[in-house]
Amino acid sequence: MIAINKPLIGEEEKEEVMKVLSSGKLTDSSFDGSSTVREFEKNLAKFVGVKHAIAVNSGTSALLASLIALDISYGDEVLIPSFTFIATANIVLARGARPVFVDINLEDYTMDINDLERKITSRSKAIIPVHLYGHPSNMDGIIKLAKEHDLFVIEDAAQSLGSSYKDNKTGSIGNLGCFSFYSTKVITCGEGGAITTNDDDLYIKLKKIRNHGITAYYNPDVLGLNLRMPEMEAALINVQMKKIESFLEKRRKNAKILSEYLEGLKGINLPKEKKGCVHNWYLYTISLEKNRDAILKILNDKGIGATVYYRIPIHKTELYKKFGDYKLPKTVWASEHVMSLPVHPELTEQDISNVASSVRDAIKLIIE
Ligand SMILES: Cc1ncc(COP(=O)(O)O)c(C=O)c1O
Repeated sequence: MIAINKPLIGEEEKEEVMKVLSSGKLTDSSFDGSSTVREFEKNLAKFVGVKHAIAVNSGTSALLASLIALDISYGDEVLIPSFTFIATANIVLARGARPVFVDINLEDYTMDINDLERKITSRSKAIIPVHLYGHPSNMDGIIKLAKEHDLFVIEDAAQSLGSSYKDNKTGSIGNLGCFSFYSTKVITCGEGGAITTNDDDLYIKLKKIRNHGITAYYNPDVLGLNLRMPEMEAALINVQMKKIESFLEKRRKNAKILSEYLEGLKGINLPKEKKGCVHNWYLYTISLEKNRDAILKILNDKGIGATVYYRIPIHKTELYKKFGDYKLPKTVWASEHVMSLPVHPELTEQDISNVASSVRDAIKLIIE
């Protein structure tokens, strides 16, 4: 099976993890964290182009800590897309705030700015744009509205490490940026996350939040939890961080080759980088005018791990239906028509050619 994404773990990662196991020190609950954690934070902050990074134990933790840091809770509304991974909405609910769902555009599947503007109310407190599949959201439009309405911007950059918008890396544009290092992400430590920011006060607050709110001996002044990144994960992600540029380069190359193969096929829309944007190609997502699921089945039967992400948009799930009878036509269209194809760094040109010819054959059989 050609996997849609997979962890790319070499001997170097294994060696560093073994060193941690031999050291007898598997975690560090000090305020600043261990030297391994701090090394990662320094390198991530540099890569993203911000003053600070705070390592945590998942992307969900990064988002939750961000909402706590910005005092978002009961009575507040948070504007989010419905076409995203459910964690983006769950952390809003976990804070007792209300998720308000915004439609997307169909060029890059990120937030539609006109719909965002329509959904802002006097209770709105924050916008969480999701850089879906790795493509940056329209950050100029989002920042403009946030300034006009005094809203925080928390970038859900879980999928977009390495992407940029007008020369600024995602995660460096809003008040806070949240990353995930879950097993399928562009770099991984199994489970892990981080928050990036240029704000000194939020940085200190977030370090408390990831560690039960504690700075000095048991005297918390903010709600915190155990959101710390353990040592084995920190050791692993440090090695992965060194490989990020080469991983991104290979993804870009694979996406380019795949687009060349698929260009001109009828019934299929290929992903494009919008002007001023750099895509990290975490997911290469096409849309098919019709018969998506029949084509998906043919590809999967041939051993190609093509995958549909977000088949049920969040606003239509049992849990979230009660938050309003939303009409989000583009979100619904995308959920019925998209499909992601593999372009991860380990694929050979032959693999890409196989993916492309299988898509071509399936379309011929089903659509033409
Ligand atoms: C868009 C988005 N937000 C949030 C998350 C949550 O990250 P994690 O799985 O590391 O908790 C993920 C990923 O898995 C994601 O894709």
